[in-house]
Amino acid sequence: MVLNLFNKDRIYRQGEKIKGYEIIEILGEGRFGICYQVSCCQKQFILKQLKPGMLKKSKGKVRFEEEILQELHHESIPQFIDKIEDAHFYGYVLEFKEGRTFEDIIYLDKKAFEKDEIYRIAGQLIELLKYLHSKGVVHRDIRVPNTLYNGENVNLVDFGLARWINDRKYKADMDFAFLGDFLLHLYYSSFDYENGKKRPWFDELELSDTERLFLKRLMGVEKRYCRIEEVETDFYKIIGCKP
Ligand SMILES: Nc1ncnc2c1ncn2[C@@H]1O[C@H](COP(=O)(O)OP(=O)(O)O)[C@@H](O)[C@H]1O
Ligand SMILES: [Mg+2]
Repeated sequence: MVLNLFNKDRIYRQGEKIKGYEIIEILGEGRFGICYQVSCCQKQFILKQLKPGMLKKSKGKVRFEEEILQELHHESIPQFIDKIEDAHFYGYVLEFKEGRTFEDIIYLDKKAFEKDEIYRIAGQLIELLKYLHSKGVVHRDIRVPNTLYNGENVNLVDFGLARWINDRKYKADMDFAFLGDFLLHLYYSSFDYENGKKRPWFDELELSDTERLFLKRLMGVEKRYCRIEEVETDFYKIIGCKP
């Protein structure tokens, strides 16, 4: 029995192969699955393995990522490539996206982002959210470990919590507080901590009035945005050009 359970939730190791995909590295292990970097025909891919125990327990919730990614086609979102399903394995293969996570860039590399670059990144994420919301998808997990950056382009990964938008539990505006919080990580990367972090972010960060209100509305400190188009309009006021 123990052996059987172990086999079912088996974690694959470096060098092992699953349907022709060779494991290079384990990138993450969440409650529902394991994320591997794999290679096949000299190309890199991502393989997401769903834990069989969790497939039943989650009552189908873990299937949303594969269902949603199959409907999305955007250069900043991993393309769904292949599904692998047999008696021992359930998972899917995704396009490998370039870049390091913002988590590593900010907290390991200690890169300090200046405003110009923050605006470029914010602009890309707003464009990406416009696409997602127009497709009826709310991501619900836009955070520094789930966003990749190569110095030019931002890629959004991890659609594990993404859902189809409805007017009950899953609303598009859920993504705005995540976007605000994500941007605060960027602003604080160049914050001078010499005297310690003492005041609320909207007092201690150097922000223009429009920028402060924009971030406060994203974060829900002031009247929340309802639609991504409102977010976009206010963002363009900050950077001083038209959408
Ligand atoms: N398509 C992808 N391309 C490149 N790296 C990825 C991709 N998807 C995930 N990753 C990397 O793997 C890590 C874990 O994947 P993720 O989908 O966030 O699963 P989880 O957070 O459940 O472990 C991410 O933080 C990211 O570094
Ligand atoms: Mg993740």
